[in-house]
Amino acid sequence: MQMFNEFVHVFNEYSATFLSDVEDSNVKDAMCYALEVGGKRLRPFLVFAMSNLTLQDSNMLKLAYALEMVHTYSLVHDDLPAMDNDDYRRGQLTTHKRFDEATAILAGDALLTQAFYVISMLDLKHENIVNAMRILSDASGANGMILGQVLDIQNDTNHLNQIEDLYKLYGYKTGCLFSAALRLGNLLNLKHEDEDQLDQIGKKLGIVFQIQDDYLERTSTFDVIGKSNQSDLENHKKTVIEFLGIEATRLKINELYAELNRDIMLLNETYPHLLDIVHWMKDRIK
Ligand code: IPE
Ligand code: IPE
Ligand code: MG
Ligand code: MG
Repeated sequence: MQMFNEFVHVFNEYSATFLSDVEDSNVKDAMCYALEVGGKRLRPFLVFAMSNLTLQDSNMLKLAYALEMVHTYSLVHDDLPAMDNDDYRRGQLTTHKRFDEATAILAGDALLTQAFYVISMLDLKHENIVNAMRILSDASGANGMILGQVLDIQNDTNHLNQIEDLYKLYGYKTGCLFSAALRLGNLLNLKHEDEDQLDQIGKKLGIVFQIQDDYLERTSTFDVIGKSNQSDLENHKKTVIEFLGIEATRLKINELYAELNRDIMLLNETYPHLLDIVHWMKDRIK
């Protein structure tokens, strides 16, 4: 998708300038390593798509960047031995494998805190800066993404019995940051949408994205996904595949994307880039 490619180009160039003042070169290298190589940049693109601003808008780029830092920190920590214990991410060694565990933990911590510093630099009314901080901290904190990770760890040993519990877990672990992306874009958009509606769309998008991630992990190869295709099995995690099987999972993914298409069309404004990225995401599985 042309606009997505252009966005990723602008975003990557912009983000390369950001960590220049980190003093310790080891932590700085680890932060750059985690951030700069290979991520799809989906969440930042959702900020852009929802904002209806130009590709060069600096508030949009900063907010998108802050969110990607939080997402990247969550992956660095998610891969640690105490969590999923993965050796590869984005097609290369995970941060703790490339550096060491302590550096990966500290680089993750630094990415998380730096995100809020970047938000403090936005050229917006103070009220909107506080709102942006609230959205991102709620979404990533103990009642958001972290809660999802807690439920996910419990799922390693204490398997879920109901598929609804798995969807709930996905809504927290992955959906919260997708919701935050839409709500942060909306904060920049002069025609504010209904926050509850966006929250629900973001959660659903995160849930279907996570179901796809499980599906791809089971049906695809390292070369395609850039990470282990054995991680869930090795960690004894119950995924949607155990509940539905491969074929019904594919149908469920299609059903959720069809619903999302309708939900987005029902918003008060039109968001062409949002519809395009949702189609692009759907097409990751044929
Ligand atoms: C990986 O997210 C973690 C999940 C929620 C499945 P992405 O697939 O968006 O990861 P990157 O940023 O493109 O590496
Ligand atoms: C990662 O979920 C979600 C977060 C980091 C919040 P997974 O553990 O399922 O994703 P991958 O497979 O490592 O990318
Ligand atoms: Mg995990
Ligand atoms: Mg993982």
